[in-house]
Amino acid sequence: MATFNLNINGKNQQLDVDPATPMLWVLRDHLNLVGTKYGCGIAQCGACTIHLNDTAVRSCQLPVSAVGEQKVTTIEGLSENGDHPVQKAWLEVDVPQCGYCQAGQIMSAAALLKKTPKPTDDEIDGAMNGNICRCGTYVRIKQAIKTASTL
Ligand code: FES
Ligand code: FES
Repeated sequence: MATFNLNINGKNQQLDVDPATPMLWVLRDHLNLVGTKYGCGIAQCGACTIHLNDTAVRSCQLPVSAVGEQKVTTIEGLSENGDHPVQKAWLEVDVPQCGYCQAGQIMSAAALLKKTPKPTDDEIDGAMNGNICRCGTYVRIKQAIKTASTL
């Protein structure tokens, strides 16, 4: 066990955990931030995507000891009222089917638009490539990212 001071969704959080604990479990089990989902556990599906500073990362393969002073943002912290442009576009296009992958999809899309506000089709494909959707909502995801880029 070790003590970590983390900045999560703009709040300081102190917790005692094994340094190897993946952030996914810190968020879900220790902080009850369960919007971040467990899919594969091996950085292959994107369900667990969060932001470290403004970059999309897979929290299932991110040990708490690697976070340091970087800002962690989860789907709960993306916007105060659920009105981030990506969230608004997701509603407008009615993207989700079962919903399981969607928090991760939204976090990847938000990170893309932060760095590239007007992405090309290829840039969208590249950024979203690692987020798998078993329901096959890819066409609507792409459409929503384009919509979000205009909001
Ligand atoms: S659960 Fe992390 S990438 Fe699948
Ligand atoms: S909406 Fe069902 S897995 Fe993506």
